[in-house]
Amino acid sequence: MYSDKILDHFINPRNLGIIEDADGIGVLGDPECGDFIKVYLKVTDDHISDIRFQIAGCPAAIASGSAMTELAKGKSLDEAAEITDDTILEYLGGLPKEKAHCSNLGAGALHNAIINYLTKTLKITVI
Ligand code: FES
Repeated sequence: MYSDKILDHFINPRNLGIIEDADGIGVLGDPECGDFIKVYLKVTDDHISDIRFQIAGCPAAIASGSAMTELAKGKSLDEAAEITDDTILEYLGGLPKEKAHCSNLGAGALHNAIINYLTKTLKITVI
């Protein structure tokens, strides 16, 4: 059902944890009732210099979160903002059809963390 790459990211998730002094934090889902991810960013010179995540979800969601951090680390904010569900699916070599939605968590939380960073640093309001 899952490829070796997905199983590897599920069993050994990359960049799991928190960043105490994160520059941006993004969440998606609800920790009270199911799937949930929280992404922490450190930003240096408009690049993601460090990224961590916490997650509660299925194996596909955990693997997708891990993949998202590998894809985003070191990227400029513009490049990271272009990471989508499809980018993560492609990186993992696809997910079973009924699990394709699980990749949404990682990309969405990454985007929310970038928005959080920009909102704080540029003092803008995103509607
Ligand atoms: Fe809900 Fe995978 S995130 S089934």
